[in-house]
Amino acid sequence: MSVPFRTLLERRLSRRGMLFGAAALAAGAGLPRSLRAEEARATPTFAPLPLGAATHVEVPAGYRTAPVVRWGDPLLRGAPAFDPTAMTGATQGGQLGFNCDFVAYLPLPYGSRSSSHGLLCVSTEYTTRRRMFANAGKVPTPTQCDVEMAAHGLNIMEVCRAKDGTWSVECGSAFNRRLTVRSPFVFEGPAAGHPRLRTSTDTAGRIVLGTLCNCSGGITPYGTWLQAEENFDEYFRGTPELAHEDLAEDWKLHTIRTKSHFRWEVHHARFDLDKEPHEANRFGWMVEIDPYAPTSQPVKRTALGRFKHEAASITQTRDGRLVVYMGDDERDQFVYKFVSKGRYDAKARKKNWGLLDEGTLYVAVFEEEGRGRWEPLVFGQGPLTPERGFTDQGDVLVRTRKAAALLGATPMDRPEDVEVHPETGAVYVALTNHTKRKAPDAAGANPRAPNPHGHILELRELEANPAATVFAWDVLLLGGEAAATTSTGAESVLSCPDNLAFGPDGHLWVATDGQPKRLQTVDGKRAHDSVYRVPLRGPDRGKPQRFLNAVPEAEVCGPAFTPDGRTFFCAIQHPGGASFAKPGPAFPDYDAKLPPRPSVIAVWRPDGERIGR
Ligand code: FEO
Ligand code: CA
Ligand code: CA
Ligand code: CA
Repeated sequence: MSVPFRTLLERRLSRRGMLFGAAALAAGAGLPRSLRAEEARATPTFAPLPLGAATHVEVPAGYRTAPVVRWGDPLLRGAPAFDPTAMTGATQGGQLGFNCDFVAYLPLPYGSRSSSHGLLCVSTEYTTRRRMFANAGKVPTPTQCDVEMAAHGLNIMEVCRAKDGTWSVECGSAFNRRLTVRSPFVFEGPAAGHPRLRTSTDTAGRIVLGTLCNCSGGITPYGTWLQAEENFDEYFRGTPELAHEDLAEDWKLHTIRTKSHFRWEVHHARFDLDKEPHEANRFGWMVEIDPYAPTSQPVKRTALGRFKHEAASITQTRDGRLVVYMGDDERDQFVYKFVSKGRYDAKARKKNWGLLDEGTLYVAVFEEEGRGRWEPLVFGQGPLTPERGFTDQGDVLVRTRKAAALLGATPMDRPEDVEVHPETGAVYVALTNHTKRKAPDAAGANPRAPNPHGHILELRELEANPAATVFAWDVLLLGGEAAATTSTGAESVLSCPDNLAFGPDGHLWVATDGQPKRLQTVDGKRAHDSVYRVPLRGPDRGKPQRFLNAVPEAEVCGPAFTPDGRTFFCAIQHPGGASFAKPGPAFPDYDAKLPPRPSVIAVWRPDGERIGR
């Protein structure tokens, strides 16, 4: 019989006090002075919005919003203006891709804190054929396939802020760059060159064309971009009965089926695993690229494991080792971290390139009473041996999911973004939902079954050391707590947390993906996805305050702030209606000649104040 969640919570809190020092866990104690000061300001200066169902993006009174860059906007010199009726792979390859997800702002020049001139790094995760083309079918035409492949990937662009607070892209800037499913990526780290990565066109297993399903990401202390490869399974098909049993097992673990979703294999044989069995092993990695060096070679860092990578959040130990926290977004998959062997050198930027190739990957095991431990994925240790079928460390990394399960990792409610607080070092894990969970896990870290609304966990590493192998954990908030109110009496509820970021106020900002299926407005409409500010301290700790409502059909991704906290960027992904012919509101320009366009938007205050203050 499962223990009631409240009982688990109480037990956990008393046990945590003993383990980690009750004083250290008391509200506010041990916090940096800047955050203690914030505690008094946990009440926002904005009036939280009610749930919304409007055709335009809604922000609180006193805030403005405008698009920065839209699907099809030209980025590269010579790229044409957007014309949805005349797209080719070549035109799309010079323009912003479809379904923007990760957003980061990097100041220009490197090392400055400019908040009016920088680089915008935007991933474009996947394509939706019926919304992109008038004549969409189940199988793409050759041109549609070309456009779709060019609409995936990475987008880097120089951006400037005007005096009125709006932002624009410097089209044709030498910094601007597109990387797509046709761009070469080099493998580095323990699995580079591994037999499991070799194919008929890359017999050395060292170079792969493309990156796929680029969900969220993170920025390193030296200004490079880590970009996750998430649902790569949807691009491949394979017949398990024709495959080696290891491969068939891997396909099952990653839900690769006999029919692909995108059907690109009709035009490109490498997406048919019956013809190219190892091609899917070359996706599901973490990509690293240097946006400040437009001709640099992007790599896939195999030391960070292969799974449906959602995002990355990077911090460092006191002695300068890098630690990367990561989630694997699928029901019953795991939370990971990587600890580098080498140390970050703030004075020699280029020396840090490659730091993520050597180190230890760990997976989280949540234990009852608010404790947890990190289990290392090291060949030869525990069950990761030749007797269990592993040949070397590269093999452990290619088959991360299998290795992690053998180590007893805790199956989670879809780990989406994981974010480490830049000042406190606390780690926040967004668990978006798990509608099929039959029972809470033994520890209660996934306390509801089923869990349609998701929740957010807070992890604290032992002695605030991100390389520790033991941690304490707590539930920061449970989605769908409909009766909750904040200390100001405002209604407080969110559902399906996905992307996380920290605001200039030191609190957590959360974007959702799935509210329309779960929450309704007061007049009974499907509530659009939203962005929330979630205080981490004070009386409203864990109570979401709604800051932005998106448009019909859209989720919100990639919240990011400029260093001065005066611009908030986010991606409005998959806005629109049923199809190109039945498009829904034409966000963001509401021009009847244009379809709805996934776009990055900026939010700011005309009075120049910081966001959320
Ligand atoms: Fe691409 Fe898990 O969201
Ligand atoms: Ca996501
Ligand atoms: Ca994030
Ligand atoms: Ca999502």
